[in-house]
Amino acid sequence: MMSIELTKEKEKNDMNNVVVKIEMSGNRYNAFDSEGNKYTSEIGTGTRKRAFENGMALERREGKTGKTYWWKVPMSEFEAYSAPVIDVSSVDVPEDHAELLNFVHSSYKLKPKGLVMKELKWKYLVRGAVRGKNLLMTGPAGCGKTLAAKSVVNSLDRPDFYFNLGATQDPRSSLIGNTHFDKKKGTYFSEALFVKAISTPDAVILLDELSRAHPDAWNILMTVLDEGQRYLRLDEEDGQATIKVASGVTFIATANIGNEYTSTRVMDKALMDRFTIVEMDVLNDEEEHGLLEYMFPHVDSDLLKSVAEIANSTRLESRNETGRISSGVSTRTSVEMAGLMYDGFGLDEAAEVTIFPQYSDDGGVESERTYVKQLVQKYVSDGSSEDLFNEDEIENGNSEGDYAS
Ligand SMILES: Nc1ncnc2c1ncn2[C@@H]1O[C@H](COP(=O)(O)OP(=O)(O)O)[C@@H](O)[C@H]1O
Ligand SMILES: [Mg+2]
Repeated sequence: MMSIELTKEKEKNDMNNVVVKIEMSGNRYNAFDSEGNKYTSEIGTGTRKRAFENGMALERREGKTGKTYWWKVPMSEFEAYSAPVIDVSSVDVPEDHAELLNFVHSSYKLKPKGLVMKELKWKYLVRGAVRGKNLLMTGPAGCGKTLAAKSVVNSLDRPDFYFNLGATQDPRSSLIGNTHFDKKKGTYFSEALFVKAISTPDAVILLDELSRAHPDAWNILMTVLDEGQRYLRLDEEDGQATIKVASGVTFIATANIGNEYTSTRVMDKALMDRFTIVEMDVLNDEEEHGLLEYMFPHVDSDLLKSVAEIANSTRLESRNETGRISSGVSTRTSVEMAGLMYDGFGLDEAAEVTIFPQYSDDGGVESERTYVKQLVQKYVSDGSSEDLFNEDEIENGNSEGDYAS
């Protein structure tokens, strides 16, 4: 429901100036605009194929009847929308390096709009992936690590594999495989998908929630991730059979680190050392407000601002040494709250079901929950905080009450 809403909004805004370029991946002709948004499903296969073959871009136009169609335009029309490509002609670099430079430095347009991430961080991530580094995205839960990692994977036109190590009960069978017995075949080995992944040249392999993985998984990955080894040992006991990591394989892992989450096992230093660390920035209240407005254009902006400010206050308080709470509200929770408001729940109700359960009520009035309840109360329109809304909005009835009802 929400995504339909988002698509509609997008179409309204961009109707007059969408220009796409056709790119081939596999046997598919994909259409992307300069922001990296995909339009493939909107354009007929024949139209895309012809544009590609003629080196033309496609522009979305509206006919007399209001129906849209895609019209071939010169590629320069597309390039006009793209970020300027940096000039490397003055530096003596090999051609393939020039290609890498251009790709990395014009890659910000590949970042989806719904992911808030600073340009330098994004480019650093893309550069690491292109350079075949082992990347580890760190940060507290719900700050966008998985979203960012998946977005980078999507920006690279390479075979990709996803493994959620946090959900893995039996690392050995998920990463290596199982030995089975069959009356006819006898004993045989069925290898895990991970074996196929590391054997695929240029694969991008997402190791999600590495910090929550079983220590056995970390041990298995140790040689895989080591620059000097890059192999998977199939049988730890006899140490003989190994599988090589194919050339060009990149690993992108995520870890909840540098935060309060005690369920996260402390990751081994030796394992950490095998990664280039990319620290995800936690959004400030302005960035978070911007994200919520982008995702929920139909929810009252002031209401979204309250959500962003509440989240931000909890983060500041938790970082404070003498703070009353040990963790902050995540962006994931903010987005959840905004979604509830879009569905007609009030700020107080949304907070009650999403924020409060995250805080202990041990200690009564001194508890963490009491603290966040009081904080939320300051933003709930109960007559005591009218200053939150300007008078116009109150007259127009465009205040929180509309959503609560
Ligand atoms: N930086 C961000 N930009 C956009 N959305 C975000 C960001 N951080 C969190 N979110 C929202 O929170 C949700 C959870 O993010 P996720 O990437 O799963 O967090 P993590 O992996 O760090 O726990 C996302 O689906 C998205 O809606
Ligand atoms: Mg995650």
